[in-house]
Amino acid sequence: MNEYICYPFLIKIDIKLFFSYFFLNPYRAVRKHLERKGERSPHQYGETPVKVIEKLIKASGGINKYQYFVDLGAGRGRVCAFVQKIFGCKVFAFEQLRVFVKKGKKLFPKVHFTYGNFLDQDLKKFDLIYLYGTMMKEKEIVAFTQKVGQRTRVITISYPLTDYDSRFKVINEVEVEFPWGKTKGYIQKLRG
Ligand SMILES: C[S@@+](CC[C@H](N)C(=O)[O-])C[C@H]1O[C@@H](n2cnc3c(N)ncnc32)[C@H](O)[C@@H]1O
Repeated sequence: MNEYICYPFLIKIDIKLFFSYFFLNPYRAVRKHLERKGERSPHQYGETPVKVIEKLIKASGGINKYQYFVDLGAGRGRVCAFVQKIFGCKVFAFEQLRVFVKKGKKLFPKVHFTYGNFLDQDLKKFDLIYLYGTMMKEKEIVAFTQKVGQRTRVITISYPLTDYDSRFKVINEVEVEFPWGKTKGYIQKLRG
């Protein structure tokens, strides 16, 4: 409710999501997808509170309407729709569940949804990457670090990329609160 007082436009986004997902629970959809793939820990869905993504983007130095933002593993696209509206930047959503991409394209036409594994995408053009990848395996994080462009800032949750790749430096870190508890958000980029 508090979110709607701070961001009245969010009501429209959430009403669209409510009706579109009335018969599809996103937590269940991701769990089923991961179970089919034989994943050992299939409980991987969760959404970033909008206040958290706003705080993280501001802590990263912000983003303007000429710049490119991507959410890697965008889920239903709530974060993307919010970021597009509040910062006016060019917003991309990469997602491995076809149904999220199909619905996202219809619900949020200003967000560029792409279906597939984000590790297969070219990430060099992005000014700011959001990676809420708290369940990623070490080899996936290492593969991701190889795809980051020289001028790209990357936001991660709970761990810094410097734990996996010494070419990065943390430029800021902030405390953030998710429904599951408090943690840190890290903003990093490749050393110059
Ligand atoms: C924890 S949810 C985060 C949703 C959204 N980013 C947010 O913060 O609200 C993770 C999402 O990433 C997707 N995902 C995980 N690994 C992926 C990959 N390698 N390629 C594309 N999507 C992926 C999952 O299907 C899920 O929808």
